[in-house]
Amino acid sequence: MLGEFVTSDLESVHACARDSVATQFMTWGPNTVAETRSFLERCQAAGAVVPRVGYEWAITLGSGELIGGGGIGPKGTEAQQGHLGYILHPAYWGLGYATEAAKRIVAFGFGQLGLHRIWSDCVTENLGSVHVIEKCGMTREGRLRHLSRRAGVWRDHFVYAVLEDEFTSTGSERSQVE
Ligand SMILES: CC(C)(COP(=O)(O)OP(=O)(O)OC[C@H]1O[C@@H](n2cnc3c(N)ncnc32)[C@H](O)[C@@H]1OP(=O)(O)O)[C@@H](O)C(=O)NCCC(=O)NCCS
Repeated sequence: MLGEFVTSDLESVHACARDSVATQFMTWGPNTVAETRSFLERCQAAGAVVPRVGYEWAITLGSGELIGGGGIGPKGTEAQQGHLGYILHPAYWGLGYATEAAKRIVAFGFGQLGLHRIWSDCVTENLGSVHVIEKCGMTREGRLRHLSRRAGVWRDHFVYAVLEDEFTSTGSERSQVE
């Protein structure tokens, strides 16, 4: 399920954000607790902006356990475009949760936000993310060379996108974000 972050999520969010495996392909992390607290504060502040611009949600199991986060928001200046992102704690990888959450976020972007194009990008070695993105119906549009650098090493990223009409034509459901 997807839901707004609350202040008491700090410990669970930090368990993921401080993890060197979980963050190996990200442009941030591993976080200090101060960085994670600041992230949570930014998420909560973004939730109070009217009209709302970006969405970062907690990904939780039915039991309420927080296993990661994901969201969609503008990146760049073009209207009706959204960038998809997500991260799960490694203890929950390979169970289909990321794919389920990502599909819900894409459906929300087209259904509730009225977006025209949703895109994502990932480090080319991030095979798990490649699978999740492709399962959302996205098409690989290219490879951006040396887009990010971690520990002094430049990394290429794949860029993917799905357009509004492609998404609906796949028959993907427009489920509500819970
Ligand atoms: C990317 C990430 C969210 C994938 O999570 P996940 O829980 O493994 O994803 P799913 O269980 O939904 O798996 C999706 C598919 O990818 C495959 N997959 C997952 N990890 C893989 C890997 N390292 N190599 C190859 N395939 C992989 C799964 O087998 C599955 O394929 P299938 O449905 O055909 O069986 C997770 O690895 C993660 O949080 N990574 C760190 C953060 C991150 O990289 N975020 C994305 C930034 S762009």
